[in-house]
Amino acid sequence: MTGGAGFIGSAYVRNLLLRRDGTRITVLDKLTVTGNRANLDPIVEDPALAERFRFVHGDVADPGVVGELVAMADAVINFAAESHVDRSIIEAEAFLRTGVIGVHVLLEAIRREAIRAAAGERARAPRLVQVSTDEVYGSVAGGRSTESDPLAPRSPYAAAKAAGDLLAHSYAVTHGTDIVVSRGSNTYGPFQHPEKLIPLFVTNAIDDRPLPLYGDGLQERDWLHVDDHAAAVDHILRHGSAGEVYNVVGDAHLTNREVARRLLDELGKPWSLVRTVEDRPGHDRRYAMDGARLAALGWRPGVSFRAGLAATIGWYRAHEAWWRAARSGAWEAWYERQYATRLAGSRKA
Ligand code: NAD
Ligand code: TYD
Repeated sequence: MTGGAGFIGSAYVRNLLLRRDGTRITVLDKLTVTGNRANLDPIVEDPALAERFRFVHGDVADPGVVGELVAMADAVINFAAESHVDRSIIEAEAFLRTGVIGVHVLLEAIRREAIRAAAGERARAPRLVQVSTDEVYGSVAGGRSTESDPLAPRSPYAAAKAAGDLLAHSYAVTHGTDIVVSRGSNTYGPFQHPEKLIPLFVTNAIDDRPLPLYGDGLQERDWLHVDDHAAAVDHILRHGSAGEVYNVVGDAHLTNREVARRLLDELGKPWSLVRTVEDRPGHDRRYAMDGARLAALGWRPGVSFRAGLAATIGWYRAHEAWWRAARSGAWEAWYERQYATRLAGSRKA
């Protein structure tokens, strides 16, 4: 799998290897700003799990390394991505390299394995799970996006993800490549890099720093716990139909204002920390997906937002060294660039 040192990918590795069912995982990860080998410490520190785990530092867009690893794999899961909308607004190129070229490199490697399988050189080609996002549907004013809705991405991040989905679809149609696509909702939980809404607000609030709420804060998102997201990807890998897309939806649909209110209540911190700041350009107002197709395949989320948020806050409180390290070095420059002017011109929320 690619991107296994990141937030959702590392949860997948930890949860799957902890089943101790004999599975072996090789992670290919470039270790970008969100990739963190410490996310895999629970595996590396347990000799029985470490024995079934291999880490390769490399780029999903590098055909040499990808070809070699795919040749040895029974299944491939592509979690790798540049994942932050705000960064894609400032500098989009890496999003395209990983989200478009990276997907193409994986698809070509799998196509080669299908040719080898047809020649009797291996049992069958690996299936690819392309991990995608609700953001490919764009902002949905009402109702819930279904898998057959047209893609209408509105940020460079979402456009790169949509391009990856379309390329995967084209290989399924043209070459018969075994691909399934998961489209997950906004995900939260432990080990999420503090550039994203919930960990940013939790860690700022712990330090009594202002919480920068973009615009009116009435944007709506579905929230999905990271363990549910990882479990859904695994379910789709094992039970999904080839060529199909599956939405992955959590149990909560909330405005950003409501998310801020709930996390402050849980932390016992005042609403006065929340500051209204200049909005994100092109900010998608609302994401909402229909999860019926995956429910029909036998999967439902197991973590309620209430319990998941409390546990996540507990994790950040208990793992201060982890998030303070993530917020050091290049983080300072990012925070300054993204928030200094916004916070200087902020208003009461
Ligand atoms: P993340 O940023 O925490 O992790 C991404 C990982 O990919 C990092 O470890 C990074 O080092 C690695 N990576 C980036 N570019 C790479 C490259 N060129 N080659 C190899 N590795 C590379 O992101 P995440 O939140 O864990 O998201 C994982 C996947 O799930 C992404 O594809 C994302 O689009 C998708 N997704 C995320 C969410 C969410 O709310 N976080 C929701 C839906 C879908
Ligand atoms: P984010 O975690 O960046 O996920 P996405 O943009 O992929 O949905 O943001 C979630 C929501 O929170 C989104 O509507 C933007 C908003 N937001 C803020 O209001 N302030 C912030 O500092 C950040 C990072 C996000």
